[in-house]
Amino acid sequence: MTIVSIFNNKGGEGKSTVTVGLAEFLAGNRDRKVLVIDLDAQASSSCALLGNRIIRQATEEGKTSAELMAKLRSSRKPIDDVEPFICWRAGTETRGSSLGELAVMVPDGPRMFEMEEAMNWKKDTQLMLSRLKPALETFDFVLVDLPANVKKSSTFCINGLAMSDFILIPTRPSRISLEGLPLTFDTIRYVQDLNTNGRPAILGLMSNATDKRFQQYKSNFPSVLKYSKAGDLPPVFAHHWPPMPALETATDERRDFETLKERFGSAYDYARKVTREFEKRCLEFEQQKPARPIRKTIWQTLGLK
Ligand SMILES: Nc1ncnc2c1ncn2[C@@H]1O[C@H](COP(=O)(O)OP(=O)(O)OP(=O)(O)O)[C@@H](O)[C@H]1O
Ligand SMILES: [Mg+2]
Repeated sequence: MTIVSIFNNKGGEGKSTVTVGLAEFLAGNRDRKVLVIDLDAQASSSCALLGNRIIRQATEEGKTSAELMAKLRSSRKPIDDVEPFICWRAGTETRGSSLGELAVMVPDGPRMFEMEEAMNWKKDTQLMLSRLKPALETFDFVLVDLPANVKKSSTFCINGLAMSDFILIPTRPSRISLEGLPLTFDTIRYVQDLNTNGRPAILGLMSNATDKRFQQYKSNFPSVLKYSKAGDLPPVFAHHWPPMPALETATDERRDFETLKERFGSAYDYARKVTREFEKRCLEFEQQKPARPIRKTIWQTLGLK
């Protein structure tokens, strides 16, 4: 079982879209058992995978990450079962690229905020790591969709990051997007220091909404690739996602998809390739020691801070 947070502290970089794409392809194309934990009160990925009606019903029944946290806080040892807190999205039987079954844990914004006020942001940082992670062993992959603007006091998100083995950072190749990276790395470093074992390691930067012919890419991304190659920045995924209408609508609430080809249209091959690379990198990373920390001066070198 591998837990990966999809995280970028800047908004709109594609965290939820990438979470949905990876979840669908890991389940449908790779036959993996996948759980998506949505820690963003906006519920974008839950909405894309389950729809609003099921989210409302789950919230009424207390099948949410907020209620799970209440349980983790009150129990002294790891919980046995996450089943009471998850919703299942059934797979399809259509021939070809059928959808796989997916488990989703939805957020409950108001209850999360209420609980965050009551929690101790300095002490309650590893409840998910110590009391939830053992119960997730039945899954091959757990993907955690995080919101933007995560702070030290965002206790739910810090918990999600702290229990993760790896972090995947989707970023657009524009200047304004890359300028958000230092803060993203600072947040990750904060969590690595809490854990003291170098985890979560940064699996890589994934270039989203990227067209290599565009000026934004040409003027900004080569230096990122150069420093990444030298080991001064995390690895950059060889595969990317282009800007595409099929990806723009991937997090829309539409419930009648039968196949991955229908759902991802012309983006099918891009999403499939990124998923393969994601799996391969997870496997490689599991056998590696955490990489060296990113040196602070890299941002000055890149002219980003
Ligand atoms: N490759 C892409 N091509 C076209 N549109 C995209 C692509 N990736 C993301 N988008 C669109 O960009 C917007 C932001 O994407 P998304 O919601 O996945 O980002 P996010 O990082 O999860 O945002 P937030 O910080 O608000 O949670 C959405 O409208 C999404 O449909
Ligand atoms: Mg999102």
